[in-house]
Amino acid sequence: MQDVTDWNFWKLISTYGGPDVYFTEYFRVTETSKLNKYILKSIVENPTGKPAIAQIIGNDIASMVRTSRELQKHNILGVDLNLGCPAPVVYKKKAGGGLLRFPSEVRELIHALRDAISIQFSVKTRIGFDTPEVFDQLLEIFAGAHIDLLTVHGRTVKDLYRSSVNYDSIQKAVQYMPCPVWANGNIYSYQKAESVIQQTRAAGLMIGRGAIRNPWIFSQIRDRSHSVVPFIPSGRDVLEYIHNLAAAVTSPNEASHKRVQHLKKYMNFVGLGIEPQAEFLHRTRRAANLDEFFGICHEFLNHSNPMEMTPFAPESLPENDTLAGCHL
Ligand SMILES: Cc1cc2nc3c(=O)[nH]c(=O)nc-3n(C[C@H](O)[C@H](O)[C@H](O)COP(=O)(O)O)c2cc1C
Repeated sequence: MQDVTDWNFWKLISTYGGPDVYFTEYFRVTETSKLNKYILKSIVENPTGKPAIAQIIGNDIASMVRTSRELQKHNILGVDLNLGCPAPVVYKKKAGGGLLRFPSEVRELIHALRDAISIQFSVKTRIGFDTPEVFDQLLEIFAGAHIDLLTVHGRTVKDLYRSSVNYDSIQKAVQYMPCPVWANGNIYSYQKAESVIQQTRAAGLMIGRGAIRNPWIFSQIRDRSHSVVPFIPSGRDVLEYIHNLAAAVTSPNEASHKRVQHLKKYMNFVGLGIEPQAEFLHRTRRAANLDEFFGICHEFLNHSNPMEMTPFAPESLPENDTLAGCHL
């Protein structure tokens, strides 16, 4: 996730169990682009002990091919094409989710990338731009290009992040595609993970916001699949996570108010799991410095009660906050 799941976050979440494979933030590709050094650090100095997949976004075929070749010189499991980013600044340039309006261009790009990528080549897609009607055609393109993995975020680009997720479309992709398909969208608990796998028969799951809210989610899913009772964090465990987050993603050299500002990006997700009145979120959003911020955190979380960390209202997340992550 752009500007969120960087090297620092990878390192932190790996200490909570973490996923089996990590996707980088997207490398923005244009005719003049060079590999972003900050994102490249996640690959070159991968702190997780697990494989990394490099994600790219763009539409210029020669540049996308060049970039995928450069990336393959590094230690990655695969290259992933982003066909989902819904930020207007991205889709209006016909990149990310914007490409889904132009299936023939998707076809051309994917075939060129398939030829250029000798390791795993995967695609992360939404189910259409403003309607899922195009999804069958997209699946036919993906299958015809012999990609190695397809991740489906079961929303259209215009749905952004709030609508319900169309898991039926993901199930359709699972049935149609010759390669493994992973399900994505609103997987916020190990119970939800289990039901999405049952419903879609997907071979795997990609988890975004749920992992920031609940870094234990991957080990909970693994435990559950091995019939081990999953660990449920207490308020104090969540408090410790927020302290760890502050230490991981901000620097003591930064001014206190800047550190809080930076943390708020993560708190948009974490806060939704804390309490249903949204008071925690409301108050932490207004905290002016770290002392004030952690004072509020202690007020809400200095207890030993279990915290499921499921979002009480996914809809309350302001789109501006989520879209701020995408830029091109
Ligand atoms: C701030 C933000 C940044 C994101 N950046 C990326 C990205 O760089 N690449 C990508 O494939 N998806 C990105 N996404 C989308 C997520 O990967 C995911 O598809 C979406 O949030 C739905 O899944 P979730 O409910 O598990 O979060 C981003 C989402 C958010 C909210």
